[in-house]
Amino acid sequence: MKPTNLSPIRVGLLGIGTVGSGTYNVLQRNQEEIRRRAGRGIEITMVADLDVARAKAAVGAGVQVVDDARKVVASPDVDIVIELIGGYGIAKQLVLEAIEAGKHVVTANKALLAVHGTEIFAAAHRKGVMVAFEAAVAGGIPIIKALREGLTANSIQWIAGIINGTTNFILSEMRDKGLDFDAVLKEAQRLGYAEADPTFDIEGVDAGHKVTLMSAIAFGIPVQFDKAYVEGITGLAAQDIRYAEQLGYRIKLLGITKRAANGIELRVHPSLVPAKRLIANVEGAMNAVVVQGDAVGTTLYYGKGAGSEPTASAVIADLVDIARLHTADPEHRVPHLAFQPDAMSDLPVVPMAEVVTSYYLRLKVADEAGVLAKVTGILAGAGISIDAMLQREADEVGGEGSTHTDLIILTHDCVEAKMNSALAQMQGLPTVLAPITRIRKEELA
Ligand code: HSE
Repeated sequence: MKPTNLSPIRVGLLGIGTVGSGTYNVLQRNQEEIRRRAGRGIEITMVADLDVARAKAAVGAGVQVVDDARKVVASPDVDIVIELIGGYGIAKQLVLEAIEAGKHVVTANKALLAVHGTEIFAAAHRKGVMVAFEAAVAGGIPIIKALREGLTANSIQWIAGIINGTTNFILSEMRDKGLDFDAVLKEAQRLGYAEADPTFDIEGVDAGHKVTLMSAIAFGIPVQFDKAYVEGITGLAAQDIRYAEQLGYRIKLLGITKRAANGIELRVHPSLVPAKRLIANVEGAMNAVVVQGDAVGTTLYYGKGAGSEPTASAVIADLVDIARLHTADPEHRVPHLAFQPDAMSDLPVVPMAEVVTSYYLRLKVADEAGVLAKVTGILAGAGISIDAMLQREADEVGGEGSTHTDLIILTHDCVEAKMNSALAQMQGLPTVLAPITRIRKEELA
C-alpha cells in the first residue's frame, strides 16, 4: 500500500451532545481504517460547547475545549468545522463565518439548509469550500450520497420516504396497540423517543426539511422549504389506521417529491401505502427511502434515522469525502446539490391544489336511505372515480341501537382541487354528521 505523508486534516466540533460524542468516539475507534480510506488522518483538534466540563469528559486530553464557538470557527488550526448546534440562529452565523474563513463545513442541520441553503451554498461556492450534510437526512442512511452520486445516471421520477423516526414510532404504536395519537405521544415522551417539544416532528416540519433537501438534489432545483406542503400526524385517529388495514393499507407519514407534468411535487402528509410494499413494513423509529429512477427502477434504503453513532456514521462519511477532495480543484468536486450551480432548473414546485393523487375518505353518516347515493353522486359529479368502499354496521361502529355509521371510500387519482370541492359539498350534506377525514393514498408502484 502506498504510504501517505499528508498530515491529518484538523476538525473543529461545534456542540458535543449525542451526535458530537458519537462522532468523536467512532473517529477514535476506527481511526486506522478511516485513515486508510481517506488517505490521511482525521483528527478532532478543537471542541466548543457551553458545557465545558461535559465536553472535557467526552474527549481526550489532546483536544482543546472552549466555550466560545467563534474561537473554533476563527482558528487557523481548523480545516473543517462540524456544526451540531441546530436551528437557524447562531448556527447560521457560525456556518457562514466558517465558510468566510475558508473552512469546509459538515452539518446535520436540515432546518438550516432547507430554509437558508441557497445563501449558504452560494457562499461556499464563492469561497471554494464544501458544505456536506449527509447526516441531515435520514441519519445513518447514505441517501444523499446515493442520490448525488450512485444514481447520477438517472432521471429521478420520484422519492418517497419515512424520514422521521418519532412519527413512525408513534404510528407503529397506534397500529399495534389500537391507541389514539395523544396517548401514544405521551408514552413516547415518557420513554424518551419523542422530544419534550415534539412540534417539528409531529407537525411534519422535520420531514419537510429533509424532503426539501432530497428534492433539490434529485431534480436540480433550489432548496425551497417555503413551497413545501406540510401536514403532520396530529389529526390521525386510531379508527383510520384500523380501516386502512382492513382495506390492505398502512398509514405512514411520507415525505414525497415527484416529477410531474407541471413541475415538482414537494409534500409531507400521512399516506395510505399498500401493506405489501416493503416501506409499509418499516416499523418503530426506523427510516426508509424509496427512490424511483428511470434507469435503475425502484431502489430502497433502510436504516436508523437518528441516534449517536448512526448519525456519526454520516458525519464521518462527509469528513472522509472532504479529506479526499480537499486538494481537488473546486470545479471538479461533486456539486453541493448534485447539479452544477450554473445548471440548476427553474421547474416550479407544484401548488398542492394541482397535485394528482388518490384518497381515503371517512364520513360519519346517518344510517338512512339515500345517503350513499348522495355522497357517490357528488364524487361522480366532480369526475372522481371510486376504487373501493367499506361500510360497517351501525351497531358495530356506534354501539347497540346506533343511528350513524362510518362510510370509508378509496378513490382513484384525481386532482386535489376537485377533491377539495367535492369534500366541501359532501360536508354540507345534513346526513354527514362530523368533519370528513381525508388521507392521501400513494400506491408507490
Ligand atoms: N427528530 C428526528 C426524528 C431525528 O424523529 O427522526 C433527527 O432528524
